[in-house]
Amino acid sequence: MKYTPPLQNIPADIVCLDDYQRYAKEFLAHDIYEYLAAGAADEYTLDRNRSAFNRIELKPRLLQDFSAASTQITLLGHDLAHPFLLAPLAYQQLCHASGEIATAIAADAMDTAMVVSTLATASIEDIAAQTDAPKWFQLYFQPSREDTLALLARAEAAGYTAIVITLDAPLNGLRNRAQRAGFRLPPEIQAVNLPSAPTNGLPNSAGPSSLIHQLMAQAPQWQDLRWLKQETKLPLIIKGVINPDDAKRFADMGIDGIIVSNHGGRCLDGLPASIDALPAIRQALGENFPILLDSGVRRGSDIIKAIALGADAVLIGRPQVFAVAVAGALGVAHMLRLLKEELEITMALCGYPQIADINRDCLFTCR
Ligand code: FNR
Ligand code: LAC
Repeated sequence: MKYTPPLQNIPADIVCLDDYQRYAKEFLAHDIYEYLAAGAADEYTLDRNRSAFNRIELKPRLLQDFSAASTQITLLGHDLAHPFLLAPLAYQQLCHASGEIATAIAADAMDTAMVVSTLATASIEDIAAQTDAPKWFQLYFQPSREDTLALLARAEAAGYTAIVITLDAPLNGLRNRAQRAGFRLPPEIQAVNLPSAPTNGLPNSAGPSSLIHQLMAQAPQWQDLRWLKQETKLPLIIKGVINPDDAKRFADMGIDGIIVSNHGGRCLDGLPASIDALPAIRQALGENFPILLDSGVRRGSDIIKAIALGADAVLIGRPQVFAVAVAGALGVAHMLRLLKEELEITMALCGYPQIADINRDCLFTCR
């Protein structure tokens, strides 16, 4: 695996999140970069995640009082320093020798909540020990209930305070770009928290029907979610919701929050951008139900747009692995600082001193 040692200092020309992607291309082997950057199939949804944000226009208010300005929010009982979290990203040792440990050190330094993937390459206990900021555990249902419960119990014992259940990836999307680059998970990169290799990959020679039979036969269903809900007192948040009918059903069954997400365009190509799916979901769930959003958030202004359209907070995906590849924990901390500064500058220039002030009136009508 080609591996350029991460930098000890941040280059002066890294001034926004996309700059980390530009640099990461130089630091990572081509196939790894392609795996991280890829969307599914023709990447229609991946592209929409950015273009949809760019279509939305902010409406500023002048002459506001900023003496008590703050980016703080309260979410599921936690006070968060700012309305963005680190999304769960698998296999971070692909990018840096310390992988998720480096990311967690940065989360602690920047007081940013972190969601740790089931497919982490460090133990969920070791990651938890690095950060005093809020930590959530992202759970993929395992083929056996016993293994699912074992992960849940470890997350509870290690101090994770919410469980994020990802449901939009019962099998991997068709990552044509990663396939073209010949990406294969190197044998030394392992999901160390699982008893055996994850099952949601594509079997090498399986046709469509065997995919459905082999992989979807193990995929969770509504009754599995009802079962899991009885097994924990921690809040449950469902990740990967795009359809308002699903969102309503989750809320009705007592789920505590949802993440509107198309998995960064990596699962089903042809989905709308998450930001375009958000308003109907907020409308279906009412004002107070906790809703987060990810996919395509790269700018402080994107965060304001997401909140204006009904999100309580957002999650940041790929920029964290690009930043960890370039400069380890320092890179991720710097990336988070850039985003926090952008958010503050945008709030100031828009005339919204508090996150709670941000609503639909903060936007011109979307075209
Ligand atoms: C992901 N994502 C993801 N989601 C999840 O629930 N569990 C996981 O293990 C992973 N792993 C993962 C790896 C890589 C390399 C990527 C790029 C993404 C999806 C992730 O949490 C998030 O939904 C998207 O990354 C958000 O989109 P952006 O911010 O990358 O555009
Ligand atoms: C991905 C899986 C691991 O998006 O969720 O690569």
